[in-house]
Amino acid sequence: MREGGPELKILLLAGDGIGPEIMAEAEKILAALALPVTLDRALVGGAAYAATGHPLPPETLAKAKVADAILFGAVGDPRFDAVERHLRPEQAILGLRSELGLFANLRPAKLFAGLEDSSALRPEVASAIDLLIVRELNGDVYFGEKGMRTTATGEREGYDIMAYSESEVRRIAHVAFRAAHPDVELSHMYVDNAAMQLVRNPGQFDVVVTGNLFGDILSDQASMCVGSIGLLASASLSEGRQGLYEPIHGSAPDIAGKGIANPLAMILSLAMLLRHSGGDEASAARIESAVAKILADGCRGADLGGSMGTAALGDAVVAALNG
Ligand code: IPM
Ligand code: MG
Repeated sequence: MREGGPELKILLLAGDGIGPEIMAEAEKILAALALPVTLDRALVGGAAYAATGHPLPPETLAKAKVADAILFGAVGDPRFDAVERHLRPEQAILGLRSELGLFANLRPAKLFAGLEDSSALRPEVASAIDLLIVRELNGDVYFGEKGMRTTATGEREGYDIMAYSESEVRRIAHVAFRAAHPDVELSHMYVDNAAMQLVRNPGQFDVVVTGNLFGDILSDQASMCVGSIGLLASASLSEGRQGLYEPIHGSAPDIAGKGIANPLAMILSLAMLLRHSGGDEASAARIESAVAKILADGCRGADLGGSMGTAALGDAVVAALNG
């Protein structure tokens, strides 16, 4: 943790579905590391909507603004599929990303040793995967003008504008170039080709910088190349030190409450939090090695064809941390 600095203030936003279950495992890891952090909690997503009528209530946003880092579970709840668009659970994460200026989303994907046969790709193709998707997070169709208009022939036409200003492109490109430092060979790809190349020869990529929508799609695709979406963590960073850290998967309502969700993406998100917002590379690396160790030892949850539950996987990581 930052030498001599004030304690890192972490806001835990567990959210919906499997969010609370996987968050509990990340908290176990934090407790095991006994780091000098201050924890706070708030409601977000469907859980917040049910309690307050808004998925990102003002008190949650206020707590987020003063936190050094936010650890975020997942949002999304089919019970609220029919509510007005701006009140849907997903709006909470989009609101946090824009309100906090979290424009740079880092999504690393690498194949953990032992998971060669879990990838949707052939083992020799999958083992070469070690890449970072740098996804822009404050622009694109997510935040572009959208609506319904009438065409000249009187038909209804929906639209959703994908726009990027030069400065938005420049700042996300800087993040990607810094991540690829110092020897950078630049190439451009259309996204259809990139999607194809990602399964044909993923080893060719080190850093992929892309817009919000394409980054969302390519990162889900990358997750299947490394075995499970339950393994991919992410960091959403602003110009400053503040960041929000979350697994790239969603709230998985179909398995919520069953104790079978994979907590590893959440735990790896905590590692990213300690690295980027806490400046604590040692603890981050310790968590990542512990996760790599339990996977190499054969620990598997249901998503990887095994039988270990959420809590058992968390306990295994704690044991590996101390081992
Ligand atoms: C993600 C998710 C979100 C996104 C949803 C929940 C709005 O898919 O973080 O990848 O599309 O950004
Ligand atoms: Mg996504």
